[in-house]
Amino acid sequence: MIILLISVNLMAQQTGVNYDEKEVPNYKLPELLVSKNGRKIKNAKRWEKIRRPELLKLFEQEVYGKIPVDIEIDDVIIHEAAGEAFNGTAIRRQVELVFRKDDLALSANLLIYLPKDSDNVPVFVGLNFNGNHTVSDDPDIRLADSWVRDNPSLGIVHNQVTEQSRGVASDRWPIEEILEAGYGIATIYCGDIDPDRDNFQDGIHPFSYQLGQFRPGYDEWGTISAWAWGLTKAMDYLSTDADVDSSRVIVFGHSRLGKAALWAAALDQRFAMCISNNSGCMGAALSRRQFGETVGSITKAFPHWFCENLNKYASREENLPVDQHMLLALVAPRPLYVTSATEDLWADPKGEFLSAIEAGAVYQLYGTEGLPVNEMPAPDSPVAGSVGYHIRTGKHDITSYDWKQFIDFANQQFTPEQ
Ligand code: GCU
Repeated sequence: MIILLISVNLMAQQTGVNYDEKEVPNYKLPELLVSKNGRKIKNAKRWEKIRRPELLKLFEQEVYGKIPVDIEIDDVIIHEAAGEAFNGTAIRRQVELVFRKDDLALSANLLIYLPKDSDNVPVFVGLNFNGNHTVSDDPDIRLADSWVRDNPSLGIVHNQVTEQSRGVASDRWPIEEILEAGYGIATIYCGDIDPDRDNFQDGIHPFSYQLGQFRPGYDEWGTISAWAWGLTKAMDYLSTDADVDSSRVIVFGHSRLGKAALWAAALDQRFAMCISNNSGCMGAALSRRQFGETVGSITKAFPHWFCENLNKYASREENLPVDQHMLLALVAPRPLYVTSATEDLWADPKGEFLSAIEAGAVYQLYGTEGLPVNEMPAPDSPVAGSVGYHIRTGKHDITSYDWKQFIDFANQQFTPEQ
């Protein structure tokens, strides 16, 4: 035990990462319910009219970057309308959303599974990391053809996928359980929208450039904003799909894609619910705690995820005009579920929990309870009001345990008590 503690401490010292609760600086969160000009926000009406737009703007300008152009779906190509899936218990729909501007074209491939013979179903929608074909062994899912990070052990070489990666992420996507519970599930490969690399020459970004512009402006969209935009386009399509109940679309994401899901839910109030799984730094976790990943480390390792303005706050978290409880509050009054994992210290589980607690103040303006507890619950003991939370035993991941809680939470929120 002692040896383990020493080695964890050494590791922290070597890398400069704080994993010691005692080293968390004293911090004061920016006021959620006081407007820029000092007015107290006392009701939902003022929140919506004054404070919500102020905060949205700050996250746009200083954190994720604003989406500078309105790009509509130009074409919808239905590759498969109702393929038989999972032994006839479900249908598979594969839809290519095409965007065009001048000589630019971009395709976002949406894979949708719906329970057979049901209409008007609620749907979970989220991005995936390495291609739609990775989410299930289903041999009929079309292979991604956009840029994917090389991973020779999965047969991904020259940035192109092969059959070898089919189904490799299926552990994270318990699709049959989701369908059995009466939900549909839809996904797009994040790289269809914007490849996850520090290169603003591909994906959707060039659609917004003026002549002679080669990267977004200092307050314009980084990759997380681009992904969030992609989710809103998935929503555009889903709201035209007669089999989907567009008033019950739940946006979700794991890790970097959880950050994108939160931002998408903040931007687009058509999403009826949001799930942030292990989203950590610049997702659900409070930045001012400086525990695990910090603004300094994330802007160094993944500068392209954010707008350039965020660099100003590297190691100066106390100067940020926002903190992440405000992002969570932008989801209110819609139900929100936040998860952590016991071994995912990099994402700062306590910071994720505290942030979810703080966001409750806005849910209260709408007359609902945010999180119904003040203390962090024990591992594997979910708690839920209109904000839900659990910390799962284990590592940074999204597992069938997590999914079971998402489904229970969605059932609770969508089915009014008799
Ligand atoms: C890295 C990054 C995190 C991110 C994670 C992921 O660990 O530092 O911020 O959430 O990757 O997306 O898996």
